[in-house]
Amino acid sequence: MTRVLVTGGAGYIGSHTCVELVSRGYEPVIVDNFVNSSPKAIDRICQLTNRPVDWYEADVRDTARIAEIIAKHECEAAIHFAGLKAVGESTEKPLEYYSANVMGTHSLIEAMLQSGASQIVFSSSATVYGEPEFLPYTESHRLRPTNPYGNTKLTAEMLLNDVAGSGALTDVAILRYFNPIGAHPSGMIGEDPNDIPNNLMPYVAQVAVGRRPHLNVFGNDYDTADGTGVRDYLHVVDLARAHVLALDRFKHTHGPFTVNLGTGNGSSVLDVVRAFEAACGKSIAMEFAPRRAGDIAAFWADPSLAHELLGWHAELTLEDMCRDQWAWQSQNPQGYEAA
Ligand SMILES: NC(=O)c1ccc[n+]([C@@H]2O[C@H](COP(=O)([O-])OP(=O)(O)OC[C@H]3O[C@@H](n4cnc5c(N)ncnc54)[C@H](O)[C@@H]3O)[C@@H](O)[C@H]2O)c1
Repeated sequence: MTRVLVTGGAGYIGSHTCVELVSRGYEPVIVDNFVNSSPKAIDRICQLTNRPVDWYEADVRDTARIAEIIAKHECEAAIHFAGLKAVGESTEKPLEYYSANVMGTHSLIEAMLQSGASQIVFSSSATVYGEPEFLPYTESHRLRPTNPYGNTKLTAEMLLNDVAGSGALTDVAILRYFNPIGAHPSGMIGEDPNDIPNNLMPYVAQVAVGRRPHLNVFGNDYDTADGTGVRDYLHVVDLARAHVLALDRFKHTHGPFTVNLGTGNGSSVLDVVRAFEAACGKSIAMEFAPRRAGDIAAFWADPSLAHELLGWHAELTLEDMCRDQWAWQSQNPQGYEAA
């Protein structure tokens, strides 16, 4: 059985990916410092998969410790989710973001080289593109992030490609995520931000469950069909599956590649709110607020390269995403903490 180090495996996308890995015959070994997650997420992964999962509380920047864990479990590959992801916070705390996202990636690569793992799947983001020159974004679109978070993701991408170019890493998959939402259909794992949610969907779900009074919609005067921002939302389970397919590809095709992971369709804030209202049977209180500095009006992915290289395409709909988000939020109104 192929063992895979999963950094940030207790987090939102990491926990869903661990479930998919087990179901496809891989054995995840989680390292997480729990800066934005809870070990309770790992208990839920074990319940869902009916198997124990090895895990360590460790910081990905602790190179010696990570090397030791990789060597102990003889991991052949790593999936690297660990990092900080709040765009707004990254403008206030750029040093923390470069440390976690760039030095973290550097440390992980070093640990892998020391311990003999040479395959890595990396969580990048559509943020690397910046203001659209054309839509949908293809992987060859100009890369010009508009915030420190995006800069850290682009720097980590360059680092990985340079190390792959030197031959030290045999396989590098850079996955540029668009906007993952939803949860495992069981409602047992989901997104549980430690703070006020930065992203639309967990915010909407927390309003529905009574944790927040209303949703602030930033900007209703964009040049879009209903004036609100448009994004390419994809189901987190579809996203998780793509990581397994990237590892599968490493078995027969070597070298670095970069792909977009999105549905190829944009939905506005109001589309998402309406779909969520239908899923939960409640109405969501909303207030319109001014645009946020740096927000892009609309963007979505061209996911055709992911289909060509990985045989992946998003299968689940916005309705599925909202139904599963509500299953998670209604069963866990306070997230994992109350568990
Ligand atoms: N969620 C999104 O919308 C989105 C979009 C594009 C890219 N990404 C990227 O995907 C990855 C996973 O995102 P997520 O939504 O699951 O976020 P998350 O915060 O839920 O998960 C990240 C996990 O990494 C852990 N972590 C952070 N710094 C660490 C460190 N130094 N050492 C060890 N563990 C550490 C956190 O505790 C958390 O469990 C991130 O790299 C993020 O930048 C996320």
